[in-house]
Amino acid sequence: MTTAATSKPVKSKDLLVIEGLGHVYEGKNRHEAIGKLDFTVPEGAFVSIVGPSGCGKTTMLRCLSGLMKPTRGTVLLEGEPVDGVPRDLALVFQDYSRSLFPWRTVGGNIAFVLPRSMDKTERQARIQEVLDAVGLTGSADKYPWQLSGGMQQRVAIARALAYRPKILLMDEPFASVDAQTRAELEDLMLQVRDQFGMTILFVTHDIDESVYLADQVLVLSKSPSTIVAKLDVDLPRPRDQVATREDPDFVHLRSDIARMIREQSQIRK
Ligand SMILES: Nc1ncnc2c1ncn2[C@@H]1O[C@H](COP(=O)(O)OP(=O)(O)OP(=O)(O)O)[C@@H](O)[C@H]1O
Ligand SMILES: [Mg+2]
Repeated sequence: MTTAATSKPVKSKDLLVIEGLGHVYEGKNRHEAIGKLDFTVPEGAFVSIVGPSGCGKTTMLRCLSGLMKPTRGTVLLEGEPVDGVPRDLALVFQDYSRSLFPWRTVGGNIAFVLPRSMDKTERQARIQEVLDAVGLTGSADKYPWQLSGGMQQRVAIARALAYRPKILLMDEPFASVDAQTRAELEDLMLQVRDQFGMTILFVTHDIDESVYLADQVLVLSKSPSTIVAKLDVDLPRPRDQVATREDPDFVHLRSDIARMIREQSQIRK
């Protein structure tokens, strides 16, 4: 029996397990980007990652998504080592203008990631479902270049959702949109996460954004990166762009993170 007010949340299983992850770019410009990272992402969690510019966040996402083999360590998705891009994983990058095919319609861009074996009715229903989810009902026949930047990023998110991945990795996805659009896209992610039961690992430069969205924020050190802090965000949900950001716990957390990142940036090699 559970009593909502007193019971502790059941600890969900870890979907992604990262152990001793390290990466060195070899060659003429040899660079140790990631020192050693150990962390887990529980199923259904929203985990944000922040850290100084150039600390290895994108490198880490490349390693987690199987796009690049790390020099050291292991990455397990649902207990299986990641070797190549797993089917259960989707990526959304900052640069939506390069991630969508300009010669395909919105519907065509989404259909591209669906299995060829899927029948036409199901395909249409899936496209409809994800476009509804991102607030782009009726845009299936438009081309990406007919949409605003924020709308294009919504299409990229819809495409990522279309094949129902278990985990979504996002690399500064809202860095190129204006503040109002950014706030809307943040709330869209929270809504989509609830609707699709997604697990999300979200890299951002924006400290406020990292706290606003997440259940946990990981703060990385300067390159070669390690984890400086794992901070649980116990702010109530549903979150609200105004009320959440005024919450004293939010203000404390964002100040702590800002301090840590500033200290990292001031460390000289
Ligand atoms: N192909 C490469 N060869 C050599 N060094 C690289 C390569 N790609 C990235 N680096 C270096 O590795 C470090 C980490 O880069 P990465 O892009 O992962 O950082 P980041 O945290 O994502 O940065 P930003 O916050 O600017 O997006 C940087 O110093 C970068 O110059
Ligand atoms: Mg990056």
